Amino acid sequence: MSENPQSADLIVFGGTGDLSMRKLLPALYHCDRDGRLSPETCIIAMSRGGLDDADFRGKVDAEVRGSVPVDDLDTWQRFLGRLHHVSVDIGGEDTTGWAKITGMLAGHEQRDRVFYLASPPMTFGPFCRELHRAGLVTPASRVVLEKPLGRDLASAQRINDEVGAIFDERQIYRIDHYLGKETVQNLLVLRFANAFLEPIWNSLWIDHVQITASETVGTPGRRGYYDHAGALRDMVQNHLLQLLCLVAMEPPSRNDRESIRDEKVKVLESLRPITGGEVDRFTVRGQYTAGESGGVPVPGYLDEPDNTAPTEASRQVETFAAIRAEVKNWRWAGVPFYLRTGKRMPYRCSEIVVQFKDVPHSIFAGSAPNRLVLRLQPSEGIELHIMAKEPGAGEVALKPVPLSLSFAETFTTRVPEAYERLLMDVLTGNPTLFMRRDEVEAAWRFIDPILREWDSWGTPPEPYPAGSPGPAGAHELVLRSGRFWHEEDLA
Ligand code: BG6
Repeated sequence: MSENPQSADLIVFGGTGDLSMRKLLPALYHCDRDGRLSPETCIIAMSRGGLDDADFRGKVDAEVRGSVPVDDLDTWQRFLGRLHHVSVDIGGEDTTGWAKITGMLAGHEQRDRVFYLASPPMTFGPFCRELHRAGLVTPASRVVLEKPLGRDLASAQRINDEVGAIFDERQIYRIDHYLGKETVQNLLVLRFANAFLEPIWNSLWIDHVQITASETVGTPGRRGYYDHAGALRDMVQNHLLQLLCLVAMEPPSRNDRESIRDEKVKVLESLRPITGGEVDRFTVRGQYTAGESGGVPVPGYLDEPDNTAPTEASRQVETFAAIRAEVKNWRWAGVPFYLRTGKRMPYRCSEIVVQFKDVPHSIFAGSAPNRLVLRLQPSEGIELHIMAKEPGAGEVALKPVPLSLSFAETFTTRVPEAYERLLMDVLTGNPTLFMRRDEVEAAWRFIDPILREWDSWGTPPEPYPAGSPGPAGAHELVLRSGRFWHEEDLA
């Protein structure tokens, strides 16, 4: 870790793109506003855009200012003053952009330097080579790779090799923004800073686990990316599997950069492969058709407004995916982990539900198993659902009631956005919440056979109307073993 961590320079490739404007720049502004960036830190956006500093600052002023709390204009101006833009010709003949960056960073060799690649994965290797060629990679440099890292195991390995030829593994930060979410970190605290859960955190007491990331948004304007990604690559291979790891991992011996990641890899390597005929039984893929979102009619995936017309890839791609996974080890044998994610679902919700087994012998009518709900969004919090007696004389009537911890009500401090936390971690050189090469590749090893089987079917995913809870197959996936998705159970 650097001795003077905050005075790092940050260079963002794809610096004028959607991720940069919606997530990275607002997060950096928050860090600046909270006094966590040093006065010297400069942020250089690189793109093909042909902008100069003034154009870029104007763009950020127009597009970002409305989405962040600007309570004092001086801070906002100070933030804008840190921003620079350099146009680069990636892989082309024109090297002026690279020369310009080299000039801007001259004399900063002793400072930490972070290259953030917010660009498609196939550009990671070429970018790293250009950086090396331009002599920009110093021992104090780090590189951040945005997901998805590749399209499958082979492409992920190729990218890892290409980036690894320039940067050491300790310099490579593979980001998964779910790991920066408060509730996700709280899951580690809940599990490993409280004694009462550990004895019951296993197959003797837990019936199953559900991990859901449902979104109301569709994919307008994202066809170019989404047609070739789909829900499995976009959400399950990374975000959902990372959540599964944190639920299932063994207690690490230390809270340091390697111990937690070592335990996560063991979980990924213990996932029972889903191959061949099992793919049909244990996975579901869907694509939304026209329907409603928030009471407003919305088009189906194939009719989303976009610059490009739908193709065969659009017809085949899934906007919903569900999987019944199993972790094959002593702790979790026989406990299903149901994962699901979808666009244009009825509500926005990311949560982990740990459902305990029912009491071995019930003396009351109407008892229901305990359930621990960790809500990532909206309204971050933790709920433990227990059975209580409804007040009143006569027959004992039971009711499940939540013991709730709402972060907003309990802690008055602002809950930071995931990217704030992760950007500060990378600027200060803490890789704990970033994915290691072996983790990413182990996750692909689990996902690859499912993708291959889906591709071989040549049939479109199961349709579901926008605003509905996904395809019927998702309901059947859990019902087959007599279970229900969390919200179906509450209905
Ligand atoms: C991104 C996906 O990684 O996560 C998007 O590429 C998705 O498709 C987003 O919308 C969801 O993130 P969050 O934090 O809003 O749940």
